[in-house]
Amino acid sequence: MTTLRHHGKMTNEKDGFVLWFTGLSGAGKTALAKLIEEELKTRGVRVERLDGDVVRKSLTADLGFSKEDRDKNIQRVTFVAKLLSRNGVGVLASFISPYRATRDWVRTEVTNFIEVFVDCTLEECMRRDVKGLYVKALAGEIPEFTGVSDPYEAPLTPEIAVNTAEEAIEESFAKIMGYLEKKGYA
Ligand code: ADX
Repeated sequence: MTTLRHHGKMTNEKDGFVLWFTGLSGAGKTALAKLIEEELKTRGVRVERLDGDVVRKSLTADLGFSKEDRDKNIQRVTFVAKLLSRNGVGVLASFISPYRATRDWVRTEVTNFIEVFVDCTLEECMRRDVKGLYVKALAGEIPEFTGVSDPYEAPLTPEIAVNTAEEAIEESFAKIMGYLEKKGYA
């Protein structure tokens, strides 16, 4: 069916959005984004996932982890997220994105920005140390490592806050899906 709604969108067409996962390395941003991606795809929502570990091997491979480079990383990714979200795509973006002001800037750039704070204690992230980076950072082998020798500014008023140290991943997943359903994105 291609009935027109008042604002000219087809009824079978969802609005785009940007679900922005921010948090420490190892907090679970990518894992959650993948679960949400899978669920949204089964529901027929058009989605695209943008992930720090992937993007930094291609689009932003030239960048490091100084404040300036992290901001450039986020600026380039935001350019992509902006194009996608304004064309009806649900973007699942997972980046440490440690700076509050930078995330607030993303909010002004894209369509329907939803900040998801993936909270997890530094201790728990270090215990997991999925990529073995914390042990190196603590040994001084990786400078400017978020949470160890570089800042992380937690969101003050995120749309969604999950805590992967205290909740099962199913719980965090359900919180996010509940929000997307409430807003009519899922
Ligand atoms: S961001 O700060 O620019 O948003 P992004 O999410 O793209 O970071 O990349 C973070 C990933 O890069 C981490 O999960 C980790 O695998 C890797 N990494 C390498 N060096 C650092 C560092 N100094 N600080 C944080 N993450 C690092």
